[in-house]
Amino acid sequence: PLVAVVLAGGVGSRLYPASRRHRPKQLLSLGGTETLLERTVDRVDFADEVVVSTRPDFADAVRDAVPEATVLVEPAGKDTGPALAYATHYAADTVDDPVVLALPSDHHVVGEFEAAARRGARVASDTDALVTFGVEPTRPDTGYGYIEPGANHGDYAEVTTFHEKPDAETAKRYVEAGHYWNAGIFAWTPTAFRRAARDTPLGPMLQTLDAGDPDAAFDAVDPVSVDHAVFERADDVVTVPLGVEWDDIGTWDALRRLLPADEDGTVVAGDAEVTSLDAHDNVVAGDGVHVSLVGVDGLAVVAWDDRVLVVPTEDAQRVKELVTELERRG
Ligand code: GDD
Ligand code: MG
Repeated sequence: PLVAVVLAGGVGSRLYPASRRHRPKQLLSLGGTETLLERTVDRVDFADEVVVSTRPDFADAVRDAVPEATVLVEPAGKDTGPALAYATHYAADTVDDPVVLALPSDHHVVGEFEAAARRGARVASDTDALVTFGVEPTRPDTGYGYIEPGANHGDYAEVTTFHEKPDAETAKRYVEAGHYWNAGIFAWTPTAFRRAARDTPLGPMLQTLDAGDPDAAFDAVDPVSVDHAVFERADDVVTVPLGVEWDDIGTWDALRRLLPADEDGTVVAGDAEVTSLDAHDNVVAGDGVHVSLVGVDGLAVVAWDDRVLVVPTEDAQRVKELVTELERRG
């Protein structure tokens, strides 16, 4: 059986101040009417079981948003590595011979997702390798993982190297060399995941989970993404093309690719009105605000709650640093 694991425990700090600790981005409906989480759960309605994994502080809001799904609550938010180790352990424990299909809840997807997902799940059970879904890159984005493809086997290609979030120069080199983006969507059997995780920080964690102590397992592990913990080190990784229109709604800049622009190139998200005078290619978002822009280009201007953010869209990835700094200063 196919167990879809929807990751919904991230804070989405690059979408600050719309995304906050009490209102993470998967519970926002940016660029649509349903929340990102609802859209993701709908996307996997063909799975035999849908598990939404999240951290304790979001559990109630997640249950309210997707009452039809099983909600698996991690004892603590420790990023996607521990989250997926826990969900994979849960799937192995509760379902016979599961294939796990893991997917983030911050994606924009248009097209035949089911066909691609089923193809990846089949490759995962046939090869017993870890499957990552690959996307043809259209720019040297530093927010993604990069997959270097090796020998081609028709439905899938071997993965030679996996490099999470390279710097701009390396990303450019990868795009020129024909690497793929890691869609952040994965498929594996619990056996394959355990084998790949054994010599990583997730190995001891899985043993403690086997011993029936999730609290201790999460207590002892440091936050780490599955990309760093597993994919950058594993030998047995293959890639299957995702083959659909895909984007990660991770930064304010991403909205420029997803939403229609007016004649000044302005993109508006949420509930905001904009008046532009000689202002071009800006992204404006808000929760009931009127924003005026005069003589500025290429900015994201976001007003949400009692907070305002202004950042050049090309530095949109840096909002994560900002949020870390805000938290440090309390
Ligand atoms: N359950 C749970 N627990 N989910 C989490 C946690 C956690 O502690 N931390 C993050 N998540 C969820 C987020 O809510 C999101 O849906 C998903 O995991 C991925 O996290 P992101 O923070 O959005 O990752 P990313 O976009 O920087 O990078 C990943 O996705 C890219 C493609 O979208 C990586 O896999 C990259 O390699 C990939 O290119
Ligand atoms: Mg993301």
